[in-house]
Amino acid sequence: MSDTAVPAEAPSSTPYSLAHEVARRRTFAIISHPDAGKTTLTEKLLLFGGAINLAGQVKAKGERRNTRSDWMKIERDRGISVVTSVMTFEFDGLVFNLLDTPGHEDFSEDTYRTLTAVDSAVMVIDAAKGIEARTRKLFEVCRLRDIPIITFINKMDRESRDTFDLLDEIEKTLALDTTPMTWPVGRGRDFLGTYDVLDGGVRLLEGGGAKTGAAEQISIEELGKRHANLDVAAVKEELELATEACKPFDLEAFREGHLTPVYFGSALRNFGVGDLLQGLGRYAPPPRAQESNLRKIAADEPKMSAFVFKIQANMDPNHRDRIAFARLCSGKLTRGMKAKLVRTGKAMPLSSPQFFFAQDRSVADEAFAGDVVGIPNHGTLRIGDTLTEGEDVTFIGVPSFAPEIVRRVRLGDAMKAKKLKEALQQMSEEGVVQVFRPRDGAPALVGVVGPLQLDVLKARLEAEYQLPVDFEVSEFQLARWISSDDRKKLDTFIANNGSSIADDVDGDPVYLAKNEFYLGYTRDRAEGIVFSEIKDVK
Ligand code: G4P
Repeated sequence: MSDTAVPAEAPSSTPYSLAHEVARRRTFAIISHPDAGKTTLTEKLLLFGGAINLAGQVKAKGERRNTRSDWMKIERDRGISVVTSVMTFEFDGLVFNLLDTPGHEDFSEDTYRTLTAVDSAVMVIDAAKGIEARTRKLFEVCRLRDIPIITFINKMDRESRDTFDLLDEIEKTLALDTTPMTWPVGRGRDFLGTYDVLDGGVRLLEGGGAKTGAAEQISIEELGKRHANLDVAAVKEELELATEACKPFDLEAFREGHLTPVYFGSALRNFGVGDLLQGLGRYAPPPRAQESNLRKIAADEPKMSAFVFKIQANMDPNHRDRIAFARLCSGKLTRGMKAKLVRTGKAMPLSSPQFFFAQDRSVADEAFAGDVVGIPNHGTLRIGDTLTEGEDVTFIGVPSFAPEIVRRVRLGDAMKAKKLKEALQQMSEEGVVQVFRPRDGAPALVGVVGPLQLDVLKARLEAEYQLPVDFEVSEFQLARWISSDDRKKLDTFIANNGSSIADDVDGDPVYLAKNEFYLGYTRDRAEGIVFSEIKDVK
């Protein structure tokens, strides 16, 4: 790719200080509503970084078009997308880790957890549609963790909504200030390019070079000469208005999650992508300090620490391998080192941690805070696990979300109950579904966000454990984690609500309710008890 893909002053083989390596990392995800252009933008970002040679390799297309009966295809697509679970590329002396999130909303739990492993996010918006449901939901998850957001308004080459309108919508619906870093000149068929608010000048859509960010850049007057129909005065007026109406960029407000810089472009036409990448490099934060149960751990601390935010099984159907994706929070991981799995206290050799480059994975010799490595294992690691060089700290903040669908698992063969219990435990540790075990001994309940998760569970139980199961509608529809500052109060509540109490995968108590009405009724009378929809987010 371009010369800038490999920094002249920073060949990747040169050993750098840990602080330097950490400072040059940008770990981010893309959030968007299906069809807004996430896949296309991902491809174009990778092209910039030279990580792939041809666009169109990122993901099997059509994932979003799947229907329920297509679960096998979904799994297959997930299998493909696991390779793209994290895509690392270098640009301008910086190392970018782009964490992919599943396209299908039934797997949004995966997405939520992935967002715990990033330091910033790019929000892609379709210029014709504005903020859509899924974007809003994912944005809220980012806000829970104060993740700074960079906005990319995509599809500017097509009919789009009024620019002020779009910005206003972001401000109002997301309560987020906006600062346009570029400004579109013309819209739809008349879209000519973007005005660079900081540097001045219009970058042209036509004219090549857009890939390296070195697209032809001319003054508005010059643009007017080339396009007789362009009302130069009107364009200037709009730009003046934009400058007056919008807040100037404020790095601190952005990093705190109060303000989003906005870029306009067309992923399909590879336009504006360079600006976005430069913005990410300049403004997006390097790896942040991470909260643990004991203290905040800074990314440039010398000792390695990491947490598992995603597990992918069956990557290769011939080998039952399982990859745990771990985000490094501090220090440096070296191949062959022994890490401590804090949950069990046991040592775990990291003999073949893996890196992912677009379509390939390769063994990682070393990785730094901010990077994501895949750790092959056979069920030792579970979501939320912390790995350290010995310190007994546990990272917090890998969330579980209250399920939207609750079902009871029915097993045809009662003799296999023990096997089912083990299998469900495994599946819940992998994050496939949540499992709730009623304290009154009734069969286990499973909770999911989307129905496809149930299809995947059923198929995997059958294929991997030879357990044919069915799901029945349960008398319970809602599950909430319960806690209290007062242990006695919690114990009393549990004792009084015996048949509605279950344990989750970690043994934490959950209150099961028939519906919202019952939940509200109980909650109003349960003084001192906290009912949570999200577990483990501070
Ligand atoms: P997603 O991952 O967010 O779901 O979106 P994806 O990139 O797959 O894009 C959805 C559709 O929008 C695709 O068209 C894609 O080509 C188109 N698209 C993406 N960016 C732009 C853009 O900047 N301008 C225009 N005009 N279109 C864009 P499709 O017809 O559904 O798929 P395909 O058959 O073209 O691949």
